[in-house]
Amino acid sequence: MSFNFKNPSKIFSWFYSLFCPIYGRSYYKELLKSLKLTGSESIFDFGSGAGVLAKKLIKKLSNGGKLTCLDLSEAFLRKVRKKLRNYTNVDFILGDIREMGISANSFDRITISWVIHHLPKEELQDILQSIVNTLKPDGKIYVIEFLSPPHGIPEAELFNLFNGTGLSENVVFRKKMTGIFEFKKK
Ligand SMILES: C[S@@+](CC[C@H](N)C(=O)[O-])C[C@H]1O[C@@H](n2cnc3c(N)ncnc32)[C@H](O)[C@@H]1O
Repeated sequence: MSFNFKNPSKIFSWFYSLFCPIYGRSYYKELLKSLKLTGSESIFDFGSGAGVLAKKLIKKLSNGGKLTCLDLSEAFLRKVRKKLRNYTNVDFILGDIREMGISANSFDRITISWVIHHLPKEELQDILQSIVNTLKPDGKIYVIEFLSPPHGIPEAELFNLFNGTGLSENVVFRKKMTGIFEFKKK
């Protein structure tokens, strides 16, 4: 199966809709715990995909909190838009974060779950820097990622990339070949 998010086949979309909630269940649970949300946060979900995590995040927002979902794939953004159609405190952004003009210092929390290994290696540092620029000075980024090559990215490489944007890491949870990490400004 190829990872074609731009023009996903039916079987690929199906696979994602089934696989993400099942495989991701315990990771999403740990992530939501560590986010320590009060409900008023401004959250940016980078690479929302079919919206499995986005749906869990928006349910935690009440007190004026707002969610922003961004994806490069129109097909997947359509899915998350449909999933969250009953919520008014959500924005959807389609496109490359480097060209979207999102204001600096916008978000309290940023989530990047199972997206980094899909980004082109040569553009990774640049894309991560653009994400980090949108984080508030006291904000935090949470990453869920596969850690085993060739599909995943080794933990040390991931830390180096974020250290290069001025953030330091904290390990939240590790199980099998997947980790959850928190990054904040040094
Ligand atoms: C595995 S899915 C994400 C699942 C989702 N984060 C969740 O946990 O519910 C990976 C997503 O990353 C998106 N993606 C890949 N490259 C991207 C980029 N440069 N900018 C934004 N999204 C991107 C894909 O379109 C796809 O929807």
